[in-house]
Parts: sequence; C-alpha cells; structure tokens
Amino acid sequence: MSTNGFRKDFLWGGATAANQYEGAYNEGGKGLSTADMVKFVPKEERTGGHALDVTKEEIKEILEGKSTATFPKRFGTDFYHRYKEDIALLAEMGFKVFRISINWARIFPNGDDTEPNEEGLAFYDKVFDECMKFGIEPLVTLSHYETPLGLTLNYNGWTDRRVIDFFLNYAETVFKRYKDKVKYWLTFNEINIVTMSPYTGAGVLTEDAENSLQLSYQAAHHQFVASALTTKLAREINPKFQIGCMLARSTFYPETNNPEDVLLAQHENQLNLFFTDVHARGEYPSYMNRYFEEKDIHIQKERGDDEILKAYTVDFISFSYYMSLSVSSQENEAKVSGNLFGGVKNEYLETSDWGWQIDPVGLRYTLNDLYSRYQKPLFIVENGLGAYDKVEEDGSIHDDYRIDYLRKHIEQMKEAVKDGVDLLGYTSWGCIDLVSASTSEMSKRYGFVYVDQDDFGNGSLDRSRKDSFYWYKKVIESNGEDL
Ligand code: BG6
Repeated sequence: MSTNGFRKDFLWGGATAANQYEGAYNEGGKGLSTADMVKFVPKEERTGGHALDVTKEEIKEILEGKSTATFPKRFGTDFYHRYKEDIALLAEMGFKVFRISINWARIFPNGDDTEPNEEGLAFYDKVFDECMKFGIEPLVTLSHYETPLGLTLNYNGWTDRRVIDFFLNYAETVFKRYKDKVKYWLTFNEINIVTMSPYTGAGVLTEDAENSLQLSYQAAHHQFVASALTTKLAREINPKFQIGCMLARSTFYPETNNPEDVLLAQHENQLNLFFTDVHARGEYPSYMNRYFEEKDIHIQKERGDDEILKAYTVDFISFSYYMSLSVSSQENEAKVSGNLFGGVKNEYLETSDWGWQIDPVGLRYTLNDLYSRYQKPLFIVENGLGAYDKVEEDGSIHDDYRIDYLRKHIEQMKEAVKDGVDLLGYTSWGCIDLVSASTSEMSKRYGFVYVDQDDFGNGSLDRSRKDSFYWYKKVIESNGEDL
C-alpha cells in the first residue's frame, strides 16, 4: 500500500466475458448456454433499459428453430478464433492482467455431465499460454451470465441445490487443469444481478413463480454456498490462488438531505452490499431479516451452510463501477437507469449516450466505503464508457470522450489509494469491442480496440486501434502517472 500512488505491481488491464466476446457458440463441443438464447431487440422495441430476460416459451420456440431473430451473444467478436491477434494487441498496450470468463458450457456442455469436454479445456490452455508468453496475468471469472442451458431447462438453474455440486465439479476441473497458469479467480460475476434478472444471473425462469424474489434469493444462497466451497477447493488445490467475489456496485445517494431520502439510500445500499457482506464477513447480515419477512422470502438453508460461509470468505473484493444513482422518498418523475438499476436524476452529473450517470468522484467514495467496511484488498474489474464510435475515412477513431471518462475515474482511484485504500488493480470493461450485456448491441462500444461488426453480425471483424489505445498504453507505462 502506498500513500503516493498505485502499488508497483498494480494490475492494469481490461475485462471481457465469454458470452459477449468468444463467439463459436456451437463449435469445439460447446453446449448451449443461457446467453445463447438472448436475442437482439432494436432500441425502439425495447421495454425498459435492457433486453435480457427470456421465457420458457421463447426458449422452446428457439430450440424448435422457429425464431428468425439475431442472437449476437452467439457470435460475440470472435475471440475464439482471434485470441492470438487480440492478446498481442493487449500486450502492445502493456497489459499486466486480462480478465476473461470460462464458458461453463464449453467445459460441461449440459452442466451436469460427469466428464469434461477436452476440446473446451484445450482452448483455454491455448489462451492462457498466449497470455503467459507476454507476461499477462489472467483473471478468470467462473460464471459470467453463461449458465449451461441444460441446467435452466432441467433444474430451473440455481434454485436447485444440486447445481452447487455441478458447479464444484466444474470449478475443480478448471482449478486442477490451470493450476499453474491462473492465479486470480472470481466466482460469480455481479452476483447481485440475480435479484434483477434471475435468468441472466442464475439461469432461473420465473414466469410461473408467485414470488420471483423468493427464487432469486434462494438461488443466491446456493451461489453463496458454492462460492464458499469453491474457495475451500481453491485453497486445497493451490494455496497461492487468490479468490474474489464480484459485485455490481451502484452507490446510492439520497436525493436530498430529507432524512427519509437518507434512510432510503441506506436501505438500497444495504440491499446491494448484502452480497459482499456474505462473501467477506461470512454471514447473513441482520438488516436483511426484516426485508425477507416483508417480501415473504424464506431461504432454505441446510445444516452446515452457515459454518461453510463463515469458514471460507474471499481473499479480495472485486466490483464493477459504472455510475452512481440517487434515490428519493418522494414521487419523482425524473428517472434515470443503468444496466439494471434505476434511480432519479442527479442534477450534478452528466449521462452517457445510454443515459448512465457519469460520476468519477463516486468511485473514490465507493472505494473508501468498501475498504472501510471490509478491510480486504479491492479490485475494480469493470468500469468504462459505452459509446458510439465513428471511424474516420483514414481509419482512425478519435474517442476522446472515452479517454476523458477513464482519465477522470483513474484520477479518483489514485485519490482513493492516497486515502488508504488497498487497490490491487483495474480492468476496464470491454477492452476489445464486444457485444453489450444489457442490450446485445454491437454499437455500444467500450474498447481501446475497434472491431468492425454491426448489430446484426455484419462486418470484417478486423481490429483497429482507437486513440484511447495509445493513451492507455501511456497510462500503464507510467503506472497511472501520465493521464
Ligand atoms: C456489467 C457486466 O454489468 O456491465 C458486463 O458484467 C457488461 O457483462 C457491462 O457488459 C456493461 O454493460 P452493457 O450492458 O453496456 O454491456
């Protein structure tokens, strides 16, 4: 820890997820995953800010070949075939770390298979070897919105306790296989998303449920137990492994100093931090009891679960940070939203082209808040600006808006480090353009590297360097000094 700036071994890099990036959804023995069922919905036809949820009926129709929709998460931006070219570009920027996820259905095509798919395992071997060639540390998410579809259809996803064992089998397989190639692991990406989109977060279909929150929190409980047992397993297989949880952090501010607003913001923050509280402190916080009672949520725990949660807490806390949100206890029409969160407009903040509020200072606040709550190392594993990029006639892409967003956030990270926060690293989201999680658009881009492809999958898939590519290279070279 340093009071001057980032630690010497600060992990600078970028983040991706298999279902948005890898493509090749039906190659190499991969099974279908929940993400492969998510179709592209043009902006005008979208209800709400996202298009993530899929029903049983829709899945049936798709599997019967009756759908004519485009499914962008099936093709991503073709990392599967272009990993060498992509990793070389990341190496050129000086990346120290590269966050990817393993597509569970590439290893266990149905989720509940007993034997893994060797071709899938071999693919990630090649990816990690390529990273090692350039001294890039992989940071691997075990589950990033890509539950094998078989688990959804046959078990209703994580609502079924048996899924814990399938997950552990998967975790053990990849831990043993990549024991000497990967050190940093995350269990569940944005684990709290399960309460907002149970399908995305946990492969759970809720249309027949009387109380969908009941299903969400039960699924979350199974994921907590799985995460703790995965941590146990990791320590047995390689004590050097570092295991983190991952939260979609949205810091909620009270809209005014009306005590009712302050109380509401506290409540929203508790609902969000509940997920890291369990992972880091190893127990269910008492503030959830009343909420569970009021929402008629009854979590079924098995004997021993509480002890498991307590015994195997995470080594570090990772999170995504894109925005802050304000909440009001009063009727307020000025609504804003993020990928899945909602709130009221904060007049001090600008918004992105997708209406996400931009709040760099909120990142400093969030880092301090999380660190004083847990005193565990933090890792920002997602942050960035989704924007439309324009390719000039000469092929250049002047994304100064992205540089501006990232610069301001990194400045605040530096302040937080000076405040005393132990920050391990920073992986900005979608370092190479990929498909959006919430809208399946290709035109919502985050990358330093541009990929020639449109929303419907047309394009050469050629890669080109944006202005931000050269800027980020300098940032890494100077360990965050030259911004
Ligand atoms: C996070 C997810 O919610 O935000 C990523 O972990 C996602 O998968 C990212 O892509 C940005 O959201 P979006 O919807 O703009 O792609």
